[in-house]
Amino acid sequence: MLNHVGHPIRHAKLRHYLMCPPTYFDVEYSINPWMDPGGPVDRVLAVRQWSGLVEVYRSTGHRVDLLKPLAGLPDMVYAANGASVVDGRTLPARFASSQRQAEAAIHAAWHRQNGILYGGGEVQPAIAVNEAEGDFAVLSRRILAGQGFRTTPEAHRELAKLTGREVISLELIDPHLFHLDLALAVLDDDRDHIAYYPDAFSPQSRQLLSQLFPDALIASEHDAYAFGLNAVSDGLHVFISAGARQLREDLAAAGYWPISIDLSELIKGGGSVKCCTQEIRPAPVRTGATSVGVAPLLAGRASRADSALRLRASEEDSSIQRDVREEHQIKGASS
Ligand code: ARG
Repeated sequence: MLNHVGHPIRHAKLRHYLMCPPTYFDVEYSINPWMDPGGPVDRVLAVRQWSGLVEVYRSTGHRVDLLKPLAGLPDMVYAANGASVVDGRTLPARFASSQRQAEAAIHAAWHRQNGILYGGGEVQPAIAVNEAEGDFAVLSRRILAGQGFRTTPEAHRELAKLTGREVISLELIDPHLFHLDLALAVLDDDRDHIAYYPDAFSPQSRQLLSQLFPDALIASEHDAYAFGLNAVSDGLHVFISAGARQLREDLAAAGYWPISIDLSELIKGGGSVKCCTQEIRPAPVRTGATSVGVAPLLAGRASRADSALRLRASEEDSSIQRDVREEHQIKGASS
């Protein structure tokens, strides 16, 4: 159905996200052009900004589950890079850089333990280098996959095999936009509506994108470099970096509700909204004669999962607040 100005009526779909508080966030090394290890990082502000994002997700009805951060892994806040969950099937990351490698096992362990929440099964380690949702964008049927800086074409095939979905490879060429989720955003994953910045891609990939997605929103260099494409959409609300002004206007004109998010501290590590947000896409619930018994089982599982999630969320929220308070005390004492 189209609305009075001719674009589809947008609907929000409830999502399940996995995020990791920036308790130990820092810029200690440089593995992308945004990272300046000499520059100042305000971790208290980072935690505050990140907590604001969690709050916004929850207030728009989404579920946010939290991964426990580990000291010595300053990039763990970029949870989107840790694993991809499609139809309840999980491919953990295998990081390109040695500094982030340990994160993969933590994500895999979380998914092994919590797979019951989304109908997930076994979680096998990844074989080829992949940085998960940093380079994988999931559409209604197909998956778009970035290569060129981090994730390898072998990993594209690995994900295709695991999910049974078609995976379309796209080549990234701008070192500032080293992950697909910095160059392209999925706005509506039912209708395969996307936004992207063409110059981030090789000429061939650019051509492919324009053929496949003639109705895509095109972002400017300014908005791409303001992390505007590193956005999360539930189909209606688009959680997007505050600096991407034109793109926000274009989103509103296309019927979305852009919600500005300021993650200025986390941008210092080369990531924004999407980087902080791993989406867990559950196994489809099958109904009908062939799967009698499955639906009640899932329903039970969902309600158990629900209360488990709520419980964990409230426990972890208070521990984050404790962390923030302690940080304040440390700051106060040292100034
Ligand atoms: N410092 C991190 C890295 O270079 C930033 C990751 C950004 N994440 C993303 N999904 N684009 O790996």
